[in-house]
Amino acid sequence: MHLRILAGAGLVGLALAQPYPYEFPDCGDGIISSNPVCDRSLPPSERAAAMVEAMNVTEKLANLVRSAQGAARIGLPRYNAWNEALHGVAYAPGLNFPQSPPFNAATSFPMPVLLAAAFDDDLIEKVGVVIGTEARAWANHGYSGLTYWTPNVNTFKDPRWGRGSETPGEDALRVSRYAGAMIRGLEGDKAERRIVATCKHFAGNDFEDWNGVSRHDFDARLTLQDMAEYYLLPFQQCARDSKVGSFMCAYNAVNGVPSCANDYLMGTILREHWNWTETNNYITSDCEAVLDVSANHHYVETNAEGTAICFIRGMDNSCEYESTSDIPGAWNQGLLPEEVIDRALRRTYETLISAGYFDGDSSEYLSLGWADVNTPEAQELALQTVLDGTVLLKNDGTLPLELEEGATLAMVGFWANDSSKIIGGYSGRPPYARTPVWAAQQMGYKVNVATGPILQQNCTNDTWTEAALEAARKSDYILYFGGIDTSAAGETLDRYDIDWPRAQRALLKALSKLNKPLVVVQLGDQLDNTPLLRAEGINSILWTSWPGQDGGPGIMQLITGAKSPAGRLPVTQYPASYVNDIPITEMSLRPTSETPGRTYRWYADAVQPFGYGLHYTEFKPTFAEFPSSISIQELVAGCDNAYPDTCAFPPLTVQVANDGSRTSDYVALVFLAGEYGPAPYPFKTLATYGRLRDIAAGEEATAELAWTFGDVARRDEDGNTVLYPGTYTVLLDEPTVATFEFELTGEAEILDHWPAPPTEE
Ligand SMILES: *[C@@H]1O[C@H](CO)[C@@H](O)[C@H](O)[C@H]1NC(C)=O
Ligand SMILES: *[C@@H]1O[C@H](CO)[C@@H](O)[C@H](O)[C@H]1NC(C)=O
Ligand SMILES: *[C@@H]1O[C@H](CO)[C@@H](O)[C@H](O)[C@H]1NC(C)=O
Ligand SMILES: *[C@@H]1O[C@H](CO)[C@@H](O)[C@H](O)[C@H]1NC(C)=O
Ligand SMILES: *[C@@H]1O[C@H](CO)[C@@H](O)[C@H](O)[C@H]1NC(C)=O
Repeated sequence: MHLRILAGAGLVGLALAQPYPYEFPDCGDGIISSNPVCDRSLPPSERAAAMVEAMNVTEKLANLVRSAQGAARIGLPRYNAWNEALHGVAYAPGLNFPQSPPFNAATSFPMPVLLAAAFDDDLIEKVGVVIGTEARAWANHGYSGLTYWTPNVNTFKDPRWGRGSETPGEDALRVSRYAGAMIRGLEGDKAERRIVATCKHFAGNDFEDWNGVSRHDFDARLTLQDMAEYYLLPFQQCARDSKVGSFMCAYNAVNGVPSCANDYLMGTILREHWNWTETNNYITSDCEAVLDVSANHHYVETNAEGTAICFIRGMDNSCEYESTSDIPGAWNQGLLPEEVIDRALRRTYETLISAGYFDGDSSEYLSLGWADVNTPEAQELALQTVLDGTVLLKNDGTLPLELEEGATLAMVGFWANDSSKIIGGYSGRPPYARTPVWAAQQMGYKVNVATGPILQQNCTNDTWTEAALEAARKSDYILYFGGIDTSAAGETLDRYDIDWPRAQRALLKALSKLNKPLVVVQLGDQLDNTPLLRAEGINSILWTSWPGQDGGPGIMQLITGAKSPAGRLPVTQYPASYVNDIPITEMSLRPTSETPGRTYRWYADAVQPFGYGLHYTEFKPTFAEFPSSISIQELVAGCDNAYPDTCAFPPLTVQVANDGSRTSDYVALVFLAGEYGPAPYPFKTLATYGRLRDIAAGEEATAELAWTFGDVARRDEDGNTVLYPGTYTVLLDEPTVATFEFELTGEAEILDHWPAPPTEE
């Protein structure tokens, strides 16, 4: 018998003696098997319609929520839509991690911001396949549902956001390509979805709770231009190009209308403009976003009205708790038409059908089980993602450490030997969580370990410095493991400052006075590293975000030179003063007389810019020949895609010579700049990228980088995607190491007409 364990509530081990409520409908010889919903020869729309037709109104109302009650009368089981798998199968109300095998642990990758730092879409797809496979195994055995609320594709536009590490960073192209690769991995490329992925949070949700404003009452004011080129671009990839199974509407309002009641977002843009209607999908709300419509946005008066308007405007499932849902009120007061209910349920069942929920033994992925979880290949990939994502931010030649026989390492800091710090938010239970100290000992090094302060701790209440100095004095090398602790950056925990914690700076200063090689390994989100970059006594800095189950071994392999770092910052590192210059709630991206602008595209004074990252070797990258002039009209005439922005631009070749003495990967980042299209100038934007692997010392490698018309186009003030004539400067790497120019000739062409907004309410 399966037991349900209350997950995520901190009540580990508490098992309720209640049969596990989640199971596949019995399409073998159960009651439901006579319903056409079980007939695989019919199209999903007909199957879903047959399911809904068999339900009476009481049953329909009980299945519009994420904790759906099913309908015992007709053999429809209960279903909990809330399952999570941000960087591995994770705790969620619909998902169970028993105490002992099977299904007690799942592969835990680094947080998405570190996965993104590898700048390798194939790697992301491989990670997606592992997560999707493990998630489907969970579902097959009744430990989860098939709908998973991942990926988070909101752009990380402000360093203070407590959930930024859940995202693939600040750049809309990077986030879009991550979303495409991750969805391909999670859902698979067959007719049946392996699991249903969910792009969230639609739209403009990129802070939680800051200075008296909360995501529950915030109205994000977005210009059409910012929407089209930034805030909504990853969602376009999800819906239009990846045809993802599900969307989640956000807590916040956009331009006056709560996201889950926002007809322009969910109807005009998502279902019509992105043509998402016909691909077996549905929209869930974020949890209590429906209640927010009345209680916090005051968009309507009552929760019943708010509930009705969300369903009417296109949300299909409400993630409310029983106490906060007023579906009965919406129905009893005649606010919620039955056709709307039926549409919502049809979409929900079509989506579940797309993942084989009503396919009985014929489901494509039914054989996935415990043997497919935590495989050696998955564990290897978890390690590889740390090696690939970690970014070298400073190095005076100290790294990699050439450790002589018997060398002793001081391993100092709050996460040097704390396995609870490396996993990150929205996680499950990993099979193991290996710390740097564990890894160093496995590698046979002698270590002296001491902890350090975390965040708010005062220098006046110092219980760590003496022990740390003691460990350091006894050692040949000092490795300091600091940065931000998980508990200080998480949901509803936006930050107010981005300085290094004072107590950590003081400890680093004391350590650096010992005149021993000192390497800082930085956990968590970005901080203003200026004092560490300037300090001569600090030789090297590696940033590793939250590196997951193999964080320790990954870091130690980089430090000792067994592998070479080649990750790049997927976010800007801002100066500490930035937090005084702009409120987190300011959504406009371009600088104004009052605000400094956001991200590398519109903010010029980074401490270390987006794309930054050093190597252990010397690379000499160059561009190969590229046409000097291209006619816009000829390009467009040769493009047959339904969405012209997806047509391939002539590929760009980058050659890289490794002139140093170590094998290393190299990430080729290609930016565009110039004065064409809408001001302000100068602008610079990422246009394509690719990762070259294992370039040996003295060798050369060539990358052919794909890009599209859309990657070269810009968005005008109405949000239209336009190819503009002009002189384009192509820049390689950050900082720039090579450039060339080409010209686009002819007339400007609109590749995509952004839908006009409603007149504001
Ligand atoms: C629907 O069927 C259930 C039994 O599953 C029953 O309790 C309920 O009264 C019925 N509702 C309607 C409106 O017929
Ligand atoms: C590291 O932490 C583990 C688990 O808490 C502990 O057993 C071990 O003794 C620690 N190692 C050192 C060298 O402090
Ligand atoms: C920090 O120090 C001040 C006094 O200097 C004290 O009031 C405060 O409680 C301390 N905070 C912490 C977290 O130690
Ligand atoms: C001083 O540090 C200890 C141990 O970390 C902690 O328990 C205590 O609350 C701190 N005192 C103050 C005043 O912050
Ligand atoms: C929109 O989707 C429908 C149904 O899948 C399809 O027939 C149509 O070609 C799509 N339109 C575009 C522009 O792709």
